[in-house]
Amino acid sequence: MKIALASDHAGFELRTGVADYLRARGVAFEDFGCGPGESVDYVDYGAKGARAVVSGVCDRAILICGTGLGMAIVANKFKGLRATPCSSEYAAEMSRKHNDSNCLTLGGRTHGLEQALGIVRVWLETDFEGGRHGRRVQKIRDLEDENFK
Ligand code: RB5
Repeated sequence: MKIALASDHAGFELRTGVADYLRARGVAFEDFGCGPGESVDYVDYGAKGARAVVSGVCDRAILICGTGLGMAIVANKFKGLRATPCSSEYAAEMSRKHNDSNCLTLGGRTHGLEQALGIVRVWLETDFEGGRHGRRVQKIRDLEDENFK
C-alpha cells in the first residue's frame, strides 16, 4: 500500500511527524508538499493528494490542514475518494470498517502528534468489513455516478 501525503502550511509540522512515522514503520508514501515556510491554499495540496489516489499512483491519502475539514471537503469532490476527518482512534476504526475510508484528514491545529499518530496507526491497520457496509459504499458509488461528470 502506498500513501499520498500532503498538507498546507497549517498542517506542515504534523505532516513531518506523520512522514517520520510512516518511514519508521516501512509504509510506502509519496509526499506532495507543501514546502516549509510557505503559505499556500489547502485546496491545491488536497487536490494533489486526491489526484494521486484517483490516478492509481497511490492507494490512499493522508491530507492535513489546520482542522482537517477543508482537506476533507476537497478530497470528497473527487470520484472514488471517501475522505474522513477523524478526531479519535474510534472514528478512525469505524471509518475503515464501515466507510472504507481511503483518505484520512487531520488537523495540524486540532490534533497533537501523539493523538494523530494513534489515529493514523488504527486507520492503516483496520480492514473494511464489507457485507452490509459494502452495499452502503456501493450506494455512495451510485451517487457519484449520478452526480459526478
Ligand atoms: C489555513 O489557515 C486554514 O484555513 C486551513 O489549513 C484549513 O484549516 C482549512 O480548512
